[in-house]
Amino acid sequence: MRMVDLIEKKRDGQALTKEEIEFIIQEYTADKIPDYQMSAFLMAVFYEDMTDEEIVALTLAMANSGEKIDLSSIHGIKVDKHSTGGVGDTTTLVLAPLVASVGVPVAKMSGRGLGYTGGTLDKLESIPGFKIELSDHAFIEEVNKNKVAVIGQSGDLAPADKKLYALRDVTATVDSIPLIASSIMSKKIAAGADAIVLDVTTGEGAFMKNLKDARRLSHMMVRIGELAKRKTMAVISDMSQPLGQAIGNSLEVIEAIETLQGRGPADLLEMCYVLGSQMVVLGQKAETLEEARDLLEKAISSGAAFETFQRMIKNQDGDETICQHPEQLLTAQFEIELPAKTSGVVTKLVANEIGIAAMLLGAGRQTKEAAIDHSVGLKLHKKVGEKVEKGEPLLTIYSNSQQNEQVEELLYENIHIGPSADKPTLIHEIIT
Ligand code: URA
Ligand code: CA
Repeated sequence: MRMVDLIEKKRDGQALTKEEIEFIIQEYTADKIPDYQMSAFLMAVFYEDMTDEEIVALTLAMANSGEKIDLSSIHGIKVDKHSTGGVGDTTTLVLAPLVASVGVPVAKMSGRGLGYTGGTLDKLESIPGFKIELSDHAFIEEVNKNKVAVIGQSGDLAPADKKLYALRDVTATVDSIPLIASSIMSKKIAAGADAIVLDVTTGEGAFMKNLKDARRLSHMMVRIGELAKRKTMAVISDMSQPLGQAIGNSLEVIEAIETLQGRGPADLLEMCYVLGSQMVVLGQKAETLEEARDLLEKAISSGAAFETFQRMIKNQDGDETICQHPEQLLTAQFEIELPAKTSGVVTKLVANEIGIAAMLLGAGRQTKEAAIDHSVGLKLHKKVGEKVEKGEPLLTIYSNSQQNEQVEELLYENIHIGPSADKPTLIHEIIT
């Protein structure tokens, strides 16, 4: 087989065979296909798309390109959750211990953030001492004991995806639904869970800017999962405004603690109940979604979910005193309230731009190597659909710099106040 012939075949709109796709992924991972040929191929996929059969072959070839995690020694049905990214998306920090507290084992591998989308690992690392690296053995033991552990993704998980993603990033081929679907699902399949719940975010703060694309991506990923013999379902959720109130690493840990104590923002808690109910049913700890939700609500009100979180922090060497005294994590030098310039109703909080404001404060990375400032970020006091009086604080900026004009300007540009607005729909659709 020659790569140039395969590029030509895709360029001319024909479907590749499974063997041809496996050849491309194996040879590219082994550095035997140069980036310039792979770039041309990716652009051909971008324009000519792929059939379902091609996408499944691509996903499995990528999943098989490196280490595959064997979770079979964890008791019970392992359910993984993945979000396609958002702003202030604190879900995993709440959901993992919540679902674990009703008996569903959660062996979660998370990633770091890049750009305005935060990563769960960065958030957890704002807890002093918290260890995100565990040996496979310790990871599995931890999940068997406490039902939950959240660690960093192993370096050799789907290496083909790592290489391809870096190339897509610089060749304008990230925004391709078959390439996104195969990228996400290859890592989920290699990570070894029996069932997968996907949170496909849509809106300004997400990869999928509209519902039509979110639907296509969801259907495609669910189909890939089923063909790879993993029970898979997708929830299409709103990311037109940030989720919850906190955006920034330690601020989101505090938000997670409050939510696990039943005092968190309503949208974040609802998101956790919706995703969590699906996970509990897939994990066969409840027969219906209603029954599952009931279990989760009880785990919050009884304190069981919060206790599971505390044990997770302790077992992964984190400073558990932050659970009783989360204010210890508020270490930014300056807290600045941003007052509303007019009275009215918040009509828009443009999620990606608000995410960029948090990134400029230091909460996110502008390049892969950049360091993160865990202490900085934003806390929203008003969300879309809420009334505000002129002079009332819209949000609080947590900063380690006295110069925040650029951030303030960006925030004012992206918080719209008008005569009226409805609260956005949080959950658009559920796809099974
Ligand atoms: N997230 C991924 O892991 N891969 C993509 O291609 C897009 C989002
Ligand atoms: Ca949040």
